Amino acid sequence: MTTRVFTGLKPTGQLQVGNYLGAIRPLLDLAADPDNDVLVCVADLHALTVEHNPSQLRELTLEMAATLVACELNPRATLFIQSSVAAEHTELSYLLESTATYGEMSRMVQFKEKAKAQGAGSTRLSLLTYPALMAADILAHQTEVVPVGDDQRQHLELTTTLARRFNTRYGHVFTVPQGVTPAETARIKDLREPTTKMGKTGSDGAGVIFLRDNPDDIAAKVRRAVTDSDTSLHYDPSSRPGVSNLATLLGALTGMTPEQALVGLTGSGQLKQAVTVALVDTLGPIQKRYQDLRADPGHLRDLLIAGRDFASASAATTVAAAREAIGLLDLA
Ligand code: TRP
Repeated sequence: MTTRVFTGLKPTGQLQVGNYLGAIRPLLDLAADPDNDVLVCVADLHALTVEHNPSQLRELTLEMAATLVACELNPRATLFIQSSVAAEHTELSYLLESTATYGEMSRMVQFKEKAKAQGAGSTRLSLLTYPALMAADILAHQTEVVPVGDDQRQHLELTTTLARRFNTRYGHVFTVPQGVTPAETARIKDLREPTTKMGKTGSDGAGVIFLRDNPDDIAAKVRRAVTDSDTSLHYDPSSRPGVSNLATLLGALTGMTPEQALVGLTGSGQLKQAVTVALVDTLGPIQKRYQDLRADPGHLRDLLIAGRDFASASAATTVAAAREAIGLLDLA
């Protein structure tokens, strides 16, 4: 039996190297293991929970899908667009909303923070119910393992609570999933502010390497990375955050520990040079594949249709069992 792994990524626009090393690469590693059966969705329905622009959403959805394929997620994993399986996912979401309480949903930290920032009058109702849809994404596919960032831990805990509650009340329908978070060594910091996570909202982008940055931009950003006046190189995140972040980045890109990555290098100039080379070597092939994919939309569409067909068949079985268990009539 293979292990079902599921995760969703919101179509947030340009991914950066922190996302790649912290989220996408660990996912590629899971997908490379033949014991795992990995499903990944671009969570476009989740993007509707906050103010959005329709044509931009469509473009960002395609961009995210093409980026994941360019990172060689296919054919190791199945990629689909969440809304292409909306019938199953939103139906199950409703059954889970009917399993959850208002108190549980309104206690979610992400909801509270965003709702506070937006004000009740502009907070979409779907923002409140969003964790039920995320739970539906996961539970529809009998998921065992969910790679998530720390910001999604609470939503995942709610998912397991709802799965258990449903199973106890109505009979065993759902597998209860487990979360996995990426290793510390895959957490890359902003090059200009090496104590904050790369890509954190509010940064001006000068310390962020985007997956589609060209070699000149990469070299310029790495050159301006913050280091310190100590000319020796060693890994110590608390006293030398800048050098340590570059060592972590170099190690993650070349398959080494940060300490190993520093061996043979003297001075921050050499370290930066090595980081630039490693970034260009890693991102170049991804950028080439991305351009090819965007130039051939029919190919990407075929991949996404195959993903949709697989995912909707996988979800349909669970949704039928959940309908039956919760007491809906089956006329077929
Ligand atoms: N809510 C997640 C986020 O904001 C994206 C997501 C949607 C997801 N469905 C999921 C993550 C299912 C894990 C599993 O990042």
